Amino acid sequence: MAKILNKPEIGVGLIGAGDISILHARAIAKTHGAKLVGLWNRNQDRAHQRATEFGCRNYSTPVELVNDPAIDAIFILTNLETHLEYTRLALTAGKHVLVEKPVGASVAEIEEMRELANQHDLICMPGHNYVYESSMIRTKELIETGELGQIVSAYVMYNIHHPEEVARRYPGVVRQILTHHSYILLYLVGQPVELCAMKATLHYQEYTEEDIAMVQMRLANGALAHFCASFAADDHAADPWTVMVKIIGTAGSTRYSYRDHVEIKPGLVHSQTYTAYQGSIRNEVRHFLVDCLRHGANPLSSMSDAITAQKMIEAAEKSIHDKSIVTL
Ligand SMILES: NC(=O)c1ccc[n+]([C@@H]2O[C@H](COP(=O)([O-])OP(=O)(O)OC[C@H]3O[C@@H](n4cnc5c(N)ncnc54)[C@H](O)[C@@H]3O)[C@@H](O)[C@H]2O)c1
Repeated sequence: MAKILNKPEIGVGLIGAGDISILHARAIAKTHGAKLVGLWNRNQDRAHQRATEFGCRNYSTPVELVNDPAIDAIFILTNLETHLEYTRLALTAGKHVLVEKPVGASVAEIEEMRELANQHDLICMPGHNYVYESSMIRTKELIETGELGQIVSAYVMYNIHHPEEVARRYPGVVRQILTHHSYILLYLVGQPVELCAMKATLHYQEYTEEDIAMVQMRLANGALAHFCASFAADDHAADPWTVMVKIIGTAGSTRYSYRDHVEIKPGLVHSQTYTAYQGSIRNEVRHFLVDCLRHGANPLSSMSDAITAQKMIEAAEKSIHDKSIVTL
């Protein structure tokens, strides 16, 4: 059980000040009893710009940030390849960590983070933001209480066009986007027992990673599940599958959609603002800082879930490579 923080104000530091830091900074500002103390970013022009925008300190090194006694919790918001390095630095300095998804580049990396957090009695929470959306939480309750009957199928769909210059900042959609699908499935209905996947690259001119991937799975209870992750094209049709999670059971079904709340102004990389997406980060940050750090709650999606999600991603990669069905 991690130490509980009972200071009047929990201090937060950000490592990495790219796009996603904007949503995290807004979420911290809206969390009662929490304050963004400062940030560190590798590129100092960006660091100055964001520190001014967020009204916080700009540290000259990550070591200086993690050693500031005013900081209790650190958000790791850099590229995937550096998550382990900065998570290790923060946990070793005695700070709680929220690390963006995909949490690590391999199962071993995520296991190391979980082990380090346990050794230091600290919380290391994966940035699995979608599960903090209220309709996901209601869906889980309906499943757990048996109100939906026997679950027969689960669908997680993602169709948001990303121009090449945005997509190339990330790995392909298997690692970058299917991670969301994997932890959502684990949260709602549990682990698949077997899986097969396919991918394609359809609209990039130079970037060689895939811009669309699909996965079929058999779950432990015999139900089937399907994932689609695409940066290739938007879905403009009626009732679009921009981001949609559907669970169908013998006694009822549920749907979560990004399109339930839309504001006509640009989001980070989206042409419109999908309110539920930003709201999920706000709820996630509040859960981490208030429910977990102040009141000792467990994250809704844990580092063990991050490890299983990573195993699902690696199984999808193996299936694509071998053209096979992989047993988990
Ligand atoms: N939860 C979500 O819905 C969501 C959405 C977008 C991004 N993310 C995740 O957030 C993280 C950052 O994504 P972003 O969209 O802000 O990307 P970004 O490209 O806008 O920012 C990445 C930041 O990492 C820094 N960085 C890159 N390589 C580094 C290195 N070697 N050492 C130190 N710093 C380095 C860059 O300076 C930059 O500030 C990624 O892990 C991404 O998967 C999550």
